[in-house]
Amino acid sequence: MQLLIINGPNLNLLGKREKSIYGDASFEEFFKTLKSTFETIDFKYYQSNIEGELIDKLHETGFSYDGIIMNAGAYTHTSIGIGDAIAGIETPVIEVHISNVYAREEYRHLSLMAKNCIGVIAGMGLNSYHLAVQHFLSLK
Ligand code: DQA
Repeated sequence: MQLLIINGPNLNLLGKREKSIYGDASFEEFFKTLKSTFETIDFKYYQSNIEGELIDKLHETGFSYDGIIMNAGAYTHTSIGIGDAIAGIETPVIEVHISNVYAREEYRHLSLMAKNCIGVIAGMGLNSYHLAVQHFLSLK
């Protein structure tokens, strides 16, 4: 099974950024643990701060991968383009968030990608990604 994790803007700063909200672990550390927990899965990871690059990655992988786990960061709430890209590909996408976006500012309550995803996981910290992997495994 081939799974891609995509992180959007500012998520390259995990472990340094607003630690009270996002925790103190870097994504790279977490990703190592995730790979060793699910040894049978072929994981790829991609991060970009640029909307068009995130869309290009969805196009590039969205007809061959078994699943995509995507935290689009702030673009979740603003990007019609990312929502359309998810609608246009075949690979199922799970939207994830580290924080509970519904307990935060109102502008974080809207997702322009959620309706094109198979589901949304938010507020479980980095465990949100782990839970998404478990869901893809359960579909096999
Ligand atoms: C986030 C929530 C977004 O509102 C925010 O812009 C982020 C991170 C999360 O994982 O909790 O950058 O997607």
